Amino acid sequence: MMFFCSTFLVVFMMNFLRDFRVSSCDATCADKPVFTPSRLVVKFGDPTAASCSVCERCIDNIFNLESPVGLTSINGTTMFWTIERLTEWLTSPICYYNTDTDVQCCTILPITVYQPPDNVSVSFVDHTGPMFEGKQYTLQCTVEEVAPVENLTVTFYRGQTALGQLQSKNNNPKPVTETFSLNITLSKEDNGVQYWCEAKLELGPYGPQLPPVETSQTITATVFYKPQLEGSLHPEPITVLEGEPLQLNCSALGNPGPSYTWTLPSGSPSTSSSSVLIINSATFADEGKYTCSVSNDVGTATVELNVEVRANNKGILIGVVTAALIAILILLIGLFYCYKSK
Ligand SMILES: *[C@@H]1O[C@H](CO)[C@@H](O)[C@H](O)[C@H]1NC(C)=O
Ligand SMILES: *[C@@H]1O[C@H](CO)[C@@H](O)[C@H](O)[C@H]1NC(C)=O
Repeated sequence: MMFFCSTFLVVFMMNFLRDFRVSSCDATCADKPVFTPSRLVVKFGDPTAASCSVCERCIDNIFNLESPVGLTSINGTTMFWTIERLTEWLTSPICYYNTDTDVQCCTILPITVYQPPDNVSVSFVDHTGPMFEGKQYTLQCTVEEVAPVENLTVTFYRGQTALGQLQSKNNNPKPVTETFSLNITLSKEDNGVQYWCEAKLELGPYGPQLPPVETSQTITATVFYKPQLEGSLHPEPITVLEGEPLQLNCSALGNPGPSYTWTLPSGSPSTSSSSVLIINSATFADEGKYTCSVSNDVGTATVELNVEVRANNKGILIGVVTAALIAILILLIGLFYCYKSK
């Protein structure tokens, strides 16, 4: 940085001395020459132009517009500077007149030469493949060959949400490639989410109406997380009537997709490896504690479900009703024969 700043100053001074031979330039004098526009923002390689006027009485003295590049011309008290292709990163035309005290009253035209980045890319630092919830990762945005980097703002995005903005501390006017980093801690909600970054050159009111913006490609985060139960648990205990079907559900979300192991009240493992355990017709032997164990590479979640089997009164009811109907029928037949035999 120090090296750069001093180099910059030396280069600037050398250009200044070589090109202008301005003995002593007073930039604080009254009646300074006026540049129109007062500053320029130009894309590298584009044409540009400016004019400079000195006061009426100043033309009695020597006045001029000097620039190491481009063409200059004079018309009365106005001077013109034009260039077809500006291909200098540091250039500042100067407009001056000599004062009576042999000091030059001068104005420098500040020019910002910009170049939108060649390429913008995003990545997770030192990482490929799946990531884990709760861990910190570094997102990195690389902006290639952009100038001036001090006008650059880099924004990281998660989907459409901005995560943070960063700026460079470098003030090199020439194109540079710079990398910006942002630390993020991933959660399971980040699985499948797209991350990207955007590089914007903010060139101020003299810059283009739409600031140059380049966006990176998107990267999709794959986040591995431990199984988590979906929905609410069954009310405890779960009651079922004898002979009725029993269905136990311990569906869980996890990445990678979890596997299920059921342990029956008898203590033996079930043959079912699905999230839902189905018993077509419950018996009293099915009563007791069921354990569902959901696991993937990251971890295991265990759920206990207590099942109560109740006697089914429906059979008894059907029996009672059938018996009553038969009794009535016998009674009716009996009455009929009694009546007939009379
Ligand atoms: C990101 O985290 C790492 C390790 O904890 C740390 O060294 C680094 O300075 C952090 N970077 C930023 C940009 O906060
Ligand atoms: C099990 O529970 C989950 C979450 O509540 C639900 O989406 C799924 O449909 C249930 N499965 C069955 C077979 O009831």
